[in-house]
Amino acid sequence: MDSKLWGGRFEEPTDEAVDDFHSSIRFDRRLYRQDIAGSIAHATMLGEQGIIPAADAARIVEGLKAILADIEAGRVDFDVSAEDIHMNIEALLIARIGEAGKRLHTGRSRNDQVALDTRLYAKEINLEAQDLLKALCELLLQLAEMHLNTVMPGYTHLQKAQPTSLAHHLMAYFQMFTRDVERFGDAHRRVDVMPLGSGALAGTTYPLDRERVAELLGFSSITQNSMDAVSDRDFVLDYLSAASITMMHLSRFCEELILWSTDEFGFVEMDDGFSTGSSIMPQKKNPDVAELIRGKTGRVYGDLLALLTTMKGLPLAYNKDMQEDKEALFDARDTLAQALPMFAGMLKTARFCPDVMARGAAGGFTNATDAADYLVGRGMPFRQAHEVIGKLVLHCLREGKALLDLSLEELKGFSPLFEQDVFQAIAIKTCVAARGLPGGPSPDALKEAIEAGRELLSVHTLQPTL
Ligand code: ARG
Repeated sequence: MDSKLWGGRFEEPTDEAVDDFHSSIRFDRRLYRQDIAGSIAHATMLGEQGIIPAADAARIVEGLKAILADIEAGRVDFDVSAEDIHMNIEALLIARIGEAGKRLHTGRSRNDQVALDTRLYAKEINLEAQDLLKALCELLLQLAEMHLNTVMPGYTHLQKAQPTSLAHHLMAYFQMFTRDVERFGDAHRRVDVMPLGSGALAGTTYPLDRERVAELLGFSSITQNSMDAVSDRDFVLDYLSAASITMMHLSRFCEELILWSTDEFGFVEMDDGFSTGSSIMPQKKNPDVAELIRGKTGRVYGDLLALLTTMKGLPLAYNKDMQEDKEALFDARDTLAQALPMFAGMLKTARFCPDVMARGAAGGFTNATDAADYLVGRGMPFRQAHEVIGKLVLHCLREGKALLDLSLEELKGFSPLFEQDVFQAIAIKTCVAARGLPGGPSPDALKEAIEAGRELLSVHTLQPTL
């Protein structure tokens, strides 16, 4: 008969297949650092409060430190029949220090223990995501600075719309990624709450000092309801939602880079180091890295949806279903931690083609709005100017010309308000430079946006606590 830490009320051993089915050690072994840190804080507090003898608390802390060293040196084989990381470490401790080890779990349940460990882990990975995002944001600022004058077509409905610049386009993504930094910061603020002392669900009768444990572990506050504390996985969902939104942003950017590197667009060439070839077509250079990041977005959404679905019908308080939170969390973290630096490396080495972009901006009547605005500047109501330029565009389409190819006489045939200065007014560079409102693409507006961006990055600094 196997000896389970909870074996007292059982007469038969656990079915072997069940051991394998419900054991989480395969994946929650990742939490060994957090579990040991939590147990050290709990034992220290138990000793300080006189709930267990101080000498036993000291023995427990020493034993846990030695186990940590052994795990890190690869000297520990975890045991599937010991279920999870919490019971594996407790069993190792008892095997190592004997009686004193049996006092560690006083006033604690695995339900508040696993909540604590997962919170400690989530705190770390929220900060990790922020750091990775900030590195990408820095890169975007640098690239935007280099491309203030790289004119390109802006699109709506993927049809050419108005001229803009590569800097403006890059800074749009900067905005998305700084919102992501904030989102992970927000998730971090909510996860930074210490649940030990909640017990299985209804707290405990021991005089624990919850604030002391929070202080030892670097938490800002303690949870306010023991039932909520052991059944809440919102903090995992917070990470998964922030990660899903970040992946969505990366995926949109990847989609554009894939499109831009086609022969049809030719706006960018990805570096050889971030592209692959075809086993049959000798000419191929495929943007696999961008495609894979776009593809992996799906699995992170899957992680979020899986946990939302797991949680939706659960009665209070703890249910074993919640063990399913960890693989989703680990998978999303691994995907994000791989995708963000991979994306940054790909973007940094990509070669943009300003000439092709400028040519693209000159076609497709991207200056038609500016031509209408020119007439408005000479007193024509906008709706009427819209109509005049619409007719002009139709004329040009029939003639196979751009607006700038027409003579002043031809233009005057559509409105007598046109004068020689129209050619300067609707030159593509003028169209970009004239859009100088905050948030717009003019080089001056962008210089300010870049400066504001630098400022923003410097204030989003959260201190790691582990
Ligand atoms: N391995 C479990 C989990 O991840 C730990 C908590 C188990 N608690 C319990 N009462 N069975 O959720």
